[in-house]
Amino acid sequence: MAEFFISTPIYYVNDVPHLGHAYSTINADAFARWHRGLGDKVYFLTGTDEYGQKVAESAQRAAMPVDVWTNMYAERFESTWKLLLISYDDFIRTTQDRHRIAVRKFLQALYDNGYIYLGKYNGSYCVSCEAYYSNNDAPDGICPVHKKRLVQMEEENYFFRLSFFQDALLKWYGDVPDAVIPDFRRNEAFAFIKSGLEDVSISRTSLSWGISLPWDEGHVCYVWFDALVNYLTGIGYGNEDASFEAFWANSHHVLGKDIIRFHCVWWPAMCMAAGLEPPSKLLVHGWLLVRGEKMAKSGGNGVDPSDLVATYGADTVRYFLLREYVLGSDGDFSLEAIEARYDTDLANNIGNLVSRVTNVVEKSLGGVTPKWSGQAIKPDVLAQFVSRATSAWTNFNSSKALEEVQGLVKATNAMLEDRAPWKSSDSYELQQILGDALTVLQIVAILVSPALVEASVKILDAIGVDAKSALNDFSLYLEPQSYVGGSVISKAAPLFPRLKAIRA
Ligand code: MSP
Repeated sequence: MAEFFISTPIYYVNDVPHLGHAYSTINADAFARWHRGLGDKVYFLTGTDEYGQKVAESAQRAAMPVDVWTNMYAERFESTWKLLLISYDDFIRTTQDRHRIAVRKFLQALYDNGYIYLGKYNGSYCVSCEAYYSNNDAPDGICPVHKKRLVQMEEENYFFRLSFFQDALLKWYGDVPDAVIPDFRRNEAFAFIKSGLEDVSISRTSLSWGISLPWDEGHVCYVWFDALVNYLTGIGYGNEDASFEAFWANSHHVLGKDIIRFHCVWWPAMCMAAGLEPPSKLLVHGWLLVRGEKMAKSGGNGVDPSDLVATYGADTVRYFLLREYVLGSDGDFSLEAIEARYDTDLANNIGNLVSRVTNVVEKSLGGVTPKWSGQAIKPDVLAQFVSRATSAWTNFNSSKALEEVQGLVKATNAMLEDRAPWKSSDSYELQQILGDALTVLQIVAILVSPALVEASVKILDAIGVDAKSALNDFSLYLEPQSYVGGSVISKAAPLFPRLKAIRA
């Protein structure tokens, strides 16, 4: 058993959650569930990013006290994650005391280590990104992400000596080639570091909505600088206990491509400056697009995940996002795409396999489940599917893992078509065919469980396997011999009814 720490980005509370945010969170949730099932001690952290100019201005525009505003939005995120069956262990809000304490401790460490100095900032800023832009990045003075005019800022600020860490970062990227997944995102971060790093401004005097610097209370910490530290706050930075060390030594951050520089350049350098190891892995995903444009509040094209859950159920939304998009690349979202996945992968393939197998077991074997025989499904073929799917999950490749599961389901459905147990009265043959098909279902239930949280339990129940035990010990239940049969089952209710039936 090993500690496994996984986080999502923390979400700005100026916006209601949309499917793009859900995509970050569902990925992290699936990886957390996979590792729990392997027996790891998992800490899954999500939360909200509540300081900074953007949030302060949103509350002001709504004429609301900022704490009322942040409470309202933080609740929206929490309730949406509950609807999507997100199994977080901790929901951090950057306005919590524990975070202020951790950030001040972290900043003091950087200051004491000589990596922070007082300087003057003069340059361009995008409030929506809460980010500075150099002339190279935005030569026309327009934010490349939000397409809004950048504002000129001139202030006396504290700076972080990011430039000092250029060589150390390049060395780290060389020593740990898979620290950023996928490769092309790693190369992007590496090229940026190679092109030369400038020091970054990390404080503000023009704003009071933030965490004040411990050595100069007149400055508040720049929102990104405090936000990144949430990953440490969550696992108890500052308490200096063994649990913090163990989780930090195996830390994984899921993030979108728009926040690569903060996570893949600033954050490892900040950790080095504080005397910590950089994070173990940065898992960068692409954007969900709507007709080619990033799904976003500012784009007016945000899809509310709660609406999708109400129509299709949480499992379908989770499965769709994890199967449809390849981690790292952008992908277009449409209702047609979600419905196509539902019809083919869920209703026709998995749902059909469950109902036809349980049906024949009830009809032809009096409901008594036979055990794995390895005669109808070749053990080596099964082992190959399992090995490809498990290594895909372990390598954070959910679409590949679920593709392998579909391959296994299709192969089993094809075997059933071929052997047609519903026509057979040879009980020996029936035992072999159905024992193997039931075994596949047990294995399928485990391999899809990070995505299909509810359906995986239903599949295991339907085939007479104790779901709680199986979902707590993937390795054991992925072994075909562990399916011993001997339960009494009956035909399962349809797992994924036709969409027409859902709508009716
Ligand atoms: N608050 C910062 C993160 C600080 S982490 C220390 C932030 N918040 S955000 O709410 O704007 O975005 C949070 C996450 O949602 C990011 O990973 C971002 O990539 C993701 N998404 C927002 N819109 C998205 C899509 N349209 N598609 C996929 N993910 C997108 O940035």
